[in-house]
Amino acid sequence: MSRELIYQGKAKDLYTNPEDEDLIVTVYKDQATMLNGARKEILAGKGALNNQISSLIFEKLNAAGIRTHFIKQLSKTEQLNKKVAILPLEVVLRNVAAGSFSKRFGIEEGLVLKRPIVEFYYKNDELDDPFINDEHVMFLNIADGNDIAFLKEETRRINNLLKKWFDQIGLQLIDFKLEFGRDADGNIILADEFSPDNCRLWDAAGNHLDKDVFRRNLGSLTAVYEEVLERLQGLV
Ligand code: TMP
Repeated sequence: MSRELIYQGKAKDLYTNPEDEDLIVTVYKDQATMLNGARKEILAGKGALNNQISSLIFEKLNAAGIRTHFIKQLSKTEQLNKKVAILPLEVVLRNVAAGSFSKRFGIEEGLVLKRPIVEFYYKNDELDDPFINDEHVMFLNIADGNDIAFLKEETRRINNLLKKWFDQIGLQLIDFKLEFGRDADGNIILADEFSPDNCRLWDAAGNHLDKDVFRRNLGSLTAVYEEVLERLQGLV
């Protein structure tokens, strides 16, 4: 039996895993998009870089006791994941003001927030992923009060780990987006990916080593992703 396509995303495609139907194969693609897919470009090597970066981070998160969908990296562009039902929620954590937060509140990018802020966005392409609060999450039947408390706490725990690792390689973790899913037992676990596509990383000189390079036309995206991977590979 061969793999069958389950879902075609902007940056990844998901396939069945005929050897074990509780698992799926995720294939990272070379496509970069922004504005909900309105701008699209093929950047050779991006898929392999994101798969390697995300695999390395998820391995470390698993080892630190965070429950995730990550099983193992299969090849440069493929990984094996637990099958989950993704919650239609983008969970964003911000350590430093940037991007839409700076725009919304008229605050200069770079202001360090006294306490990291967790935000929810409703994953819905037709609605352009609107900003929502806890009560909207419950209204939409995405998660109950206990689940919401767990999502916020787990995201803060993950932030503490990530911030420490990026700090060790000279990068400041500004903000990031996570996605969670329910596994076969109904547990909420971390899913999707962690790569410079869904976080902001600044070096000591204030250079952007993330997807803002593409969004703001700051240079070669794959060159900075390569640098992030090389720095992460030096982590002990
Ligand atoms: P924002 O400042 O544009 O709201 O983005 C906050 C963080 O979330 C940033 O690290 C980029 C990430 N993000 C995604 O991964 N996907 C998205 O669709 C959006 C809007 C942001």
